[in-house]
Amino acid sequence: MYKAPRGTADILPEEQGYWRFIEDRAIALCRLYGYQRLDTPAFEDAQLFTRSIGEGTDIVTKEMYTFKDRSGNILALRPEGTAPVCRAYLEHGMDNSPQPVKLYYLATIFRYERPQAGRYRQHYQFGFEAIGDADPTADAEVIEMAWQFFKSLGLGSLYLYLNSIGCKVCRPKYMESLKRYYSAHVSGLCSDCKTRIEKNPLRLLDCKKPFCYDVAEAAPKSTGYLCQECETHFEAVQTYLNTLKLPFEVNHRLVRGLDYYTKTVFEIQPLGEGAQSALGGGGRYDDLIEELGGRPTPAIGFAAGMERVVLNLKRQKITVPSLTTPPVFIAHLGNEANLEAVKLASTLRKDGIAAIMGTGDRSLKSQLRQANSIGSNYVAIIGEDEVKSGTVTLRNMMSGEQKTAPPAALGDLLKKVD
Ligand code: HAM
Repeated sequence: MYKAPRGTADILPEEQGYWRFIEDRAIALCRLYGYQRLDTPAFEDAQLFTRSIGEGTDIVTKEMYTFKDRSGNILALRPEGTAPVCRAYLEHGMDNSPQPVKLYYLATIFRYERPQAGRYRQHYQFGFEAIGDADPTADAEVIEMAWQFFKSLGLGSLYLYLNSIGCKVCRPKYMESLKRYYSAHVSGLCSDCKTRIEKNPLRLLDCKKPFCYDVAEAAPKSTGYLCQECETHFEAVQTYLNTLKLPFEVNHRLVRGLDYYTKTVFEIQPLGEGAQSALGGGGRYDDLIEELGGRPTPAIGFAAGMERVVLNLKRQKITVPSLTTPPVFIAHLGNEANLEAVKLASTLRKDGIAAIMGTGDRSLKSQLRQANSIGSNYVAIIGEDEVKSGTVTLRNMMSGEQKTAPPAALGDLLKKVD
C-alpha cells in the first residue's frame, strides 16, 4: 500500500469546510484592503530563492527541494511565496504601474523539515505583499491586515510580536556586536548555534534550546543599534499600531528565518506556544526587489500557514459553515423505477438541486439507510405504484411526512421546503 509522502497530508472531504472557510475569509480580507490575486508556478529557478532567502539560512541549506530537469535547469519547489511575487512583479513590468502594487496568494510551499504537529514538508500559505511603499503606515496596515485575518476567523488568544532588525546601514554594527557577545559565551551553546556565530548570527537569537535561550535573552538588542532612519520608522510603526489599538509586544529575539528582511519584522503566535508554531509572520524587505535586478523598491508582506490555522480553529472549537446542503436521495425499486430515477436525478440537477441516486437493486430499507448516512433531508421514492401513477413520493426524513407529486413538480416542491 502506498502512503502519502512523509510530511504531507491529504485534505479529506470532512476537512474541506475549514479550508474553504479560511480561503473565503482570506479573499474577502484582500478585497477590503485592495489586494489582487497572483498565482505563480510551484517551481522556479533555484537561484531566485538562494539569492533572496539567503545562502546561510536553514531553508536554503537544508530544506529546499532542488532538482535538475531534463534540460539541465536547476529548479526548486517554492519554499516560500515572497521571492516569486517579486520575480513576477519585475517580469511583468508592475514596477511601472502606480505604486504600491498589492498582491496576494494562496499557494503550496515545500520545505524539507522534520515533520511534527503543524510542520509539514508541503504546506499551504496565505500571503500578501505591498510593494512600493516605504511609509510606516504601510507596515501598520499590513500588520493590521494580518491581525484582522485571524480575528475574522474567530481566533482569539493571540500574541503579536514586533521587532526592527535595522537595515544595511545599521545592521553590520549590530552583527559585530552580536558576534562579539556570542564569542564570549560560546561554551554551552548547541552545535547549530556555534556554527551560526559566523554564518548567520541573527538566527542565534531564535534558538529554543534552554541554554541558548538564556544566552539570547541577555544578548544585545537590534533596537539598540538602529540608525536614525530605522529608529524613526520603528517608532512611527508603533505609534500607528497603538492608534489602531493592536496589542503588540516588542520582542528583541524575533528575527525571522529569511535573510531578506529589513526594519520591521513581526509574527503572530497562539497563546502558550513557541515560535515553532507561529500562525504567521512577515516584515519589510526593502532591498529584495533591487537584489533581484529591479530599481530600489521598498516592500512589506506577511504569510500565514493554513494548516496551523486549521489546527487552531479546531483547538479553539470554532465551528465553520457547512459546505453543502445535503443532496436529495432518489430511492427506486424495479427496472422501470430505475429508468424514472435516472431521469429524475438528471432533471433535478439541471434545476440546480443536488441529487444522488440509490445504488443498484438494493431494498428500500437499505436505500433509506444510505440516504441517512449521507445526511439527506429528503428522499424521493419511486416504486411500482409511483411508476404506474406517474408520480414520485417525497419523504421528509426528519418528520417522516410524505407527499406525492409528478416528477416535474418535484423541483418546485423541494425549493419551497428548503
Ligand atoms: P515564514 O515565517 O517562513 O515566512 O512562513 C510563514 C508561515 O508559514 C509561518 O508562520 C507558519 O505559519 C507557516 N509555515 C512555515 N513553515 C511551515 C511548515 N513546514 N509547515 C506548516 N506551516 C509552515 C515566509 O515564508 C515569508 N515569505 C512571509 C512573508 C511574506 N514575509 C514577507 N512577506
